[in-house]
Amino acid sequence: MTTIPKRYLVTSALPYANGLKHIGHLAGAYIPADIYVRYLKAQKRDVVYVCGSDEHGTAIPIQATKEGTTAQAIIDKYHPIMEQNFRDLGIEFDIYHRTSSPLHHETAQEFFTALNSKGDLEIKESEQYFDEEANAFLADRYIKGTCPNCGFESAYGDQCEKCGKSLSPDELINPVSTLSGKTPVKKKTKHWYLPLDKHEAFLREWILTEHAGDWRANVLGQCKSWIDGGLQPRAVTRDLDWGVKVPLPDADGKVLYVWFDAPIGYISATKQWALDNGKDWKPYWEDQDTKLVHFVGKDNIVFHCIIFPVMLKLHGNILPANVPANEFMNLEGEKMSTSRNWKLEMQDYIDDFVNKENGGTQMADALRYYLTQIAPETKDSEFTWKGFQDANNSELVSIFGNFINRSMVLMHKLCKGKVPKLHEEALGELDRNVIGEIRAVKEKVELLLEQFKFREALFEVINLARTGNQYMQKKEPWIVAKQTGEDGQPVAEAQASIDNTLHICLQLCANLGILVNPFLPFTAKKICHMLKVVDKMLEWENAGSLKLLSVGYSLRPPELLFRKIEDAEISYQVDKLHAAAEQVKNQQTEINMEENTKTETAPVKPEIVFDDFAKIDLRVGKIVAAEKVEKADKLLKLSVDLGFETRTIVSGIAMHFKPEEIVGRQVTVVVNLAPRKMRGIESNGMILLAEDASGKLHFIHPEETINPGAGVS
Ligand code: 2FM
Ligand code: ZN
Repeated sequence: MTTIPKRYLVTSALPYANGLKHIGHLAGAYIPADIYVRYLKAQKRDVVYVCGSDEHGTAIPIQATKEGTTAQAIIDKYHPIMEQNFRDLGIEFDIYHRTSSPLHHETAQEFFTALNSKGDLEIKESEQYFDEEANAFLADRYIKGTCPNCGFESAYGDQCEKCGKSLSPDELINPVSTLSGKTPVKKKTKHWYLPLDKHEAFLREWILTEHAGDWRANVLGQCKSWIDGGLQPRAVTRDLDWGVKVPLPDADGKVLYVWFDAPIGYISATKQWALDNGKDWKPYWEDQDTKLVHFVGKDNIVFHCIIFPVMLKLHGNILPANVPANEFMNLEGEKMSTSRNWKLEMQDYIDDFVNKENGGTQMADALRYYLTQIAPETKDSEFTWKGFQDANNSELVSIFGNFINRSMVLMHKLCKGKVPKLHEEALGELDRNVIGEIRAVKEKVELLLEQFKFREALFEVINLARTGNQYMQKKEPWIVAKQTGEDGQPVAEAQASIDNTLHICLQLCANLGILVNPFLPFTAKKICHMLKVVDKMLEWENAGSLKLLSVGYSLRPPELLFRKIEDAEISYQVDKLHAAAEQVKNQQTEINMEENTKTETAPVKPEIVFDDFAKIDLRVGKIVAAEKVEKADKLLKLSVDLGFETRTIVSGIAMHFKPEEIVGRQVTVVVNLAPRKMRGIESNGMILLAEDASGKLHFIHPEETINPGAGVS
């Protein structure tokens, strides 16, 4: 038997306050956490559920530049919207805090100071990318380049959004500043590092041995590959002006790395919650009998399983008991993406479905239902609008809603609007089987929820409603009611059968309310209203009971719990999705065309004297061999015959020319350019090219074939 922890601290990843969040986020870190917490609260366990906006890091000022405003204005805009979006979809945090709060800044600084003064951090000077034009070091998202892992050309300095690999700016190929678009230079700077390498033995033991049996396979797998890949000291400070200031006199212009301060946000949120509620926050982070659970998406695994735990251990806090991370949820066959506008934002869903005319809170529950049913617990999953419609129409409407509605309608019709009595002596096999099911399901759901298996738990609940429908169908109380006596009323035996059927069905309705409450909280409340019981009935210990509704108690008239979703609503959403993505594509094409026009009319460079020009040695050359450079989409390795020698030249033309097409071509070459290494290949010279308005490249070469090596002037 597992022991019940004294208290729980549950967290959902703090979302960046840089824009609206989509249903992929919702399904990954919020809905499962909310289900878990609602279940624990129904069990009357001591649990605090914290979240809040992540308001630091380079994502915020970058969004500010995009929107032509300040970082402060961005967080003040998105923080309240995100909070409201979660509330509208029934995500009930005990506190939704924000990392820009003074309490958080203080908490994060204290944490840093505690580790630094114990000597747990290392200080190192190193060369980092610097943008001379913007006069700024280029941390994280201020630098872009080609991902060394997958070749994606717009990978950030902290992560590749395509393959998910965590990166450092030094790993990027062809790095470019996102501030000026220029190639950055290297400049010395000092930073504080968390020496993860020193904690390898602890991490191996704690994650790969102690938690081998209870953490999800995807989480263990990611952790193992990180640890096996060799842990490196990780910088926890940055040269930026947006963030929590490094609390040291010699750290001017430096802030804590966003991934150092953000998870400490869980602690500061707990502190604020305690202040607001007259509670003590400390036991939640310091007592070993607290169960700490972090709900995150798969891109956050390493931070919550490796980096933050090392910080917590050094600081003397408890460690997470589990990090039930989800994989990704795709949308209509493609990865959800904010930049490509391939997404469904919570705000959009709320506007289109959760407003009063379109169904209100029942539609919040409909989304919660589908996102749980397709939760990417073990592998990536797929949201389709058709799937959403089917889940709603064939399960919520036709199974769950239908069972409760039929039970209520028949009770009003055949039992005078009151809970009929149970005639023990008249119970048959069908009745007993259903009673057995009601009792058994509680335990099954409980076990699954404790193991973070939300999909399966929800299946058990809906299956119980399915059992209810089948039972009703077999018992046919509306037919039995036709066995009437002389007075026109059903004969005693018939009435006993009707009473038993409806008594059991109504107790089953009440049970469904309790069981469905963690998943569909708005629906559970409506069930309570119809059954005229207080919300206290929803306490978990009541599940499995056949005495939730007293005999003779009169109930309210039935209300439909769910509405059908029409085909037109679905096609509208699918069209909207495609139209939004198309719009972004068109905008991108316009930008590209504009850029091309710019090249056509590029301003004339500052004047030079003849001697400057004469320094450039231009020769005619002939390409004698060409091949692709491995793992570099843009590069070709060329052998160019210059008459006096044959040189290797690496040129960024692979997107424009096939190697076999250009062998034998005449080109103009700058032959006295200093050699440069690209992808480990030394390039000795540069080929001249002209770019037309459409972006197509053309070699510059003499009209006639002439001997390689001829000078060009
Ligand atoms: O990935 C993200 O959206 C981060 N803002 C998550 C932070 S979780 C935590 F550590 F605060
Ligand atoms: Zn990549």
